[in-house]
Amino acid sequence: MEMLTVQGGAPLRGDVYVDGAKNAALPIMAASILLNGDVRINRVPDLVDVQTMSLLLQSLGATVRHSDDILQIDTRRINLHHADYELVCRMRASVCVLGPLLARFGRASVSLPGGCNIGHRPIDLHLKGLAALGADLRIERGYVIAEATQLQGADIFLGGPGGSTVTGTCNVMTAACLAKGRTAIRAAACEPEVVDLARFLNAAGARISGPGTSIIEIDGVDELTSVSHTVVPDRIEAATFAIAATATRGSISIHNAQPEHMTSVLDALRAIGATISVTPNQIDISTAGPLNGVELAALPFPGIPTDTQAQFMALLATVPGVSVVTDRVFPDRFMHVSELLRMGARIRREGASVVIDGGSQLTGTRVMASDLRASAALVIAALAANGESQIRRTYHLDRGYTQLDQKLNGLGAKVLRREDNSPSPGGPHYLQKDSTVRNTSEQSFD
Ligand code: UD1
Repeated sequence: MEMLTVQGGAPLRGDVYVDGAKNAALPIMAASILLNGDVRINRVPDLVDVQTMSLLLQSLGATVRHSDDILQIDTRRINLHHADYELVCRMRASVCVLGPLLARFGRASVSLPGGCNIGHRPIDLHLKGLAALGADLRIERGYVIAEATQLQGADIFLGGPGGSTVTGTCNVMTAACLAKGRTAIRAAACEPEVVDLARFLNAAGARISGPGTSIIEIDGVDELTSVSHTVVPDRIEAATFAIAATATRGSISIHNAQPEHMTSVLDALRAIGATISVTPNQIDISTAGPLNGVELAALPFPGIPTDTQAQFMALLATVPGVSVVTDRVFPDRFMHVSELLRMGARIRREGASVVIDGGSQLTGTRVMASDLRASAALVIAALAANGESQIRRTYHLDRGYTQLDQKLNGLGAKVLRREDNSPSPGGPHYLQKDSTVRNTSEQSFD
């Protein structure tokens, strides 16, 4: 298992380049099952989650090649409809194969994803949407078994207690592409990654209108054809660099970004005191003046993404004044709080919110990453801290950030990746196929 050693205190300066969005690439890869042909996806990040989805597609019979940032999938030989627990339990986005398998083959057996570190993660809305399209669904021994001779278009309300569902919208929208007649998804997720999936499907011959709004309409077609698509830039990666630059009182330019997908994040950073200018593909951010605390809430798009909540919390711990951070999407997503406290942050949890008494000088120490974005928050705290931090369980970061350590070092940070030989606390461990050691009791799937 690897860990990161971070020598804190250096303001980030310089230029950094953002990769393609993991959360767009994964459902697009899954949706490629719908086609019987060749799929070329450009700007696919080289991440553990992408490798996991590739393994899942291969386990179904597809051929997958990933070279540089181009992913090529041949779906002609897919002949299995079974997504096994061993792969699905590594990554929640695996559930995105359910709709495409059902729509193309009339049958799917997909493991339920199981528990997750960021709170209760049901898939009832995915199932509700597919049932509305005419699927016969049952749960057997931990698997969703879905069957349908021919999906039929339907009018579907997909809202839930946490608002819209991103991967649920992806699953139902993709399945509806091959349904007979028209489908309307109401309370659809508006996230840019859903829009990117719709662009991919439309390029392959689907007839989807309204992506990016709360009503998506899909007119079913008989088949989809081979396609080439370029994945949208990763707004969460870009936001992580912008927040890290602010936390270290630095000044950086973020290239290959899409600022129009980040207005809430940039607005919050401006309210905190950062100076920001944007062009269509670039964000320049600096922090010359004083910073101050704010009140912010993670919400569905276009609100502040829950996937940046932890990083904002690390920043606000360093900012003088009181801040309040609420997560309305995942109200229990606060695993990072206890590790930030160990670095000297003053944070008090109150239900789905935390109150931060900001401005403390964080100090480096040994901390444990609990999930992907919590790890990013610890890296940001470590960059802003006095002295050295060791961040253990780096594999969480590698699920969602391409070479984060190298990119930060390019901005003047001092981050070292090395083997962590210390004994791991917290129960039994097993060796994964990809040679990372994971605690069987913790999985994080954002
Ligand atoms: C996706 C993202 C994840 C992000 C999340 C919210 C991917 C691969 N992952 O996850 O990074 O944090 O969106 O922006 O794109 N819910 C239900 N029933 C369901 C499904 C969801 O009640 O069937 C609830 C969830 O508990 C949560 C809310 O809806 O409160 C949003 O979850 P959802 O948008 O589905 O998250 P994911 O798609 O799993």
